Amino acid sequence: MKNSVIKLAIIISVISLPLSLNANINFSEDISPIIYKNCTECHRDGEIGAFLPLTNYSEVFNNRAYIEYAITPNEDYRHGNPIMPPWPPNLEYSTLVGEKTLTSEEIQLFSDWISEGAEQGDPELEYPMPDFPEGSAIGTPDIILTMEESIQIQGNNEDYYRCFIFDLDSDEDIYYSAMEVRPGNNEAVHHTVIVAVPEGSADALDAEDDQYGYECFGGFGVIEMTDLLGGYAPGTKPNQWSNGLAQKIPAGWDLIVQMHYAPVTQDMEDLSEINIFTIDANLVDREIQSLTMIDPTFALPPNQISEIHNTQYVPFDVSIVSFFPHSHLLGKSWEVYAETPNNDIIPFIKIDEWDFDWQNYYYPEYMLYLPAGSVIHAIAQYDNTSSNPDNPNNPPQWTFWGDLTTDEMFFLPILYVPYQEGDEYIALGEQEILLGDVNFDGELNVIDVVFIINFILDVEEFTVNQIESSDMNNDGSIDILDVVEIIQQILSLQQ
Ligand code: HEC
Repeated sequence: MKNSVIKLAIIISVISLPLSLNANINFSEDISPIIYKNCTECHRDGEIGAFLPLTNYSEVFNNRAYIEYAITPNEDYRHGNPIMPPWPPNLEYSTLVGEKTLTSEEIQLFSDWISEGAEQGDPELEYPMPDFPEGSAIGTPDIILTMEESIQIQGNNEDYYRCFIFDLDSDEDIYYSAMEVRPGNNEAVHHTVIVAVPEGSADALDAEDDQYGYECFGGFGVIEMTDLLGGYAPGTKPNQWSNGLAQKIPAGWDLIVQMHYAPVTQDMEDLSEINIFTIDANLVDREIQSLTMIDPTFALPPNQISEIHNTQYVPFDVSIVSFFPHSHLLGKSWEVYAETPNNDIIPFIKIDEWDFDWQNYYYPEYMLYLPAGSVIHAIAQYDNTSSNPDNPNNPPQWTFWGDLTTDEMFFLPILYVPYQEGDEYIALGEQEILLGDVNFDGELNVIDVVFIINFILDVEEFTVNQIESSDMNNDGSIDILDVVEIIQQILSLQQ
């Protein structure tokens, strides 16, 4: 009997151990990592979320109920479920690069922290504020384009859309691995899209407008242009193509950058820059191509929710690398997937609550292989009723394709490359290159040694990434010294 009482006491104390730990939820140890890692990047001075800085205990404490409301999922929210952090794609539908989300444990911890008194805890134990990069987030650009003059943004609390022309004046096609927009004013720049147009074709639009640039909303006001070449959304890093992939700006063409300035309450200025990371043409293995699913023929009746479902046949093997669903203010949802000839469904993206403010380029976690004969399906819904708070028309009106705020779009550029074997294993997000892992299987072994030797003997061709990862001693060339180095590393791993 005595024995079992002791056992029981032990069991009770073991059970109550986690409870007593939970009773001490505090800002420094439990909450600051959640906020600083997921929110502070935007919610601090000079950034898009500056209206609500979240940089210390008292700011988070004073806004705890507001934060709880924004991070807690709720089916009734029109935009974002949850609202923060902003990430419109459905996380269960597909996996995309750079997903922003809090786990359900983190959300629960935040609520429990509030109900237990929202204590600060020991300030010494607070999570260190991350280093937010100043300047380029990816490196030293080869071309930097700066706006010719600052643009004035009025503090009238309204959205403002403007296009700016950048004359590249290049005699040759420019291949690039990344195009990065560096907002001059992070608080005002909400999103940016970039295309190229034949030289001078937008100059008249610029000349007609008395300020620098010209006003534009959903389009660029020109007929001939490339597909989207780059863009920006707050809190997202530009994607940098690797594995010899590159995008192209045709020789001589001008870039047009369309800026969406968010509503601000004070007059401000913006002088933004575009960084271009070029690639030498002979290092380009595959040029990224695009196809655009587009439907300029629709008519959206007033007081109705309409659905447009378009399909695109894929005649040869491709690997999908990016997509950009785009509609305007009636936009309600998007779903994009492919069906292969074997009836496999390959999900691209699903946005349950389309939000014009948070549109972006999306990249699948791995290249998506679509065999020849696949069909891409794109389904967009439009809410042209008066219960859509963003409906630009009151009462609702017939709405058609166009560039203006009162027009709509069904526009889906998709970037792809012709398929090569193994593409489905190529991850598109930021990769930590494991030096020596030239077949990218996640480990160093004799296969990598064979690959490197074959490359040195000219038996094997390498992609740019493979060359980079073979240069074990970082001396700029691949030779026997690298082979010695990798063998030494493999032997030391085995000990
Ligand atoms: C990418 C930038 C960004 C990130 C990351 C971000 N926010 Fe926001 N947040 C904004 C902007 C911009 C707004 C203004 C509303 C809008 O445009 O959606 C906002 C709005 C809010 C609001 C007000 C919501 C409302 O409906 O009034 C709260 C609260 C908030 N954010 C908290 C957070 C928290 C907590 C996190 C981290 C979990 C976070 N935000 C992450 C940019 C961001």
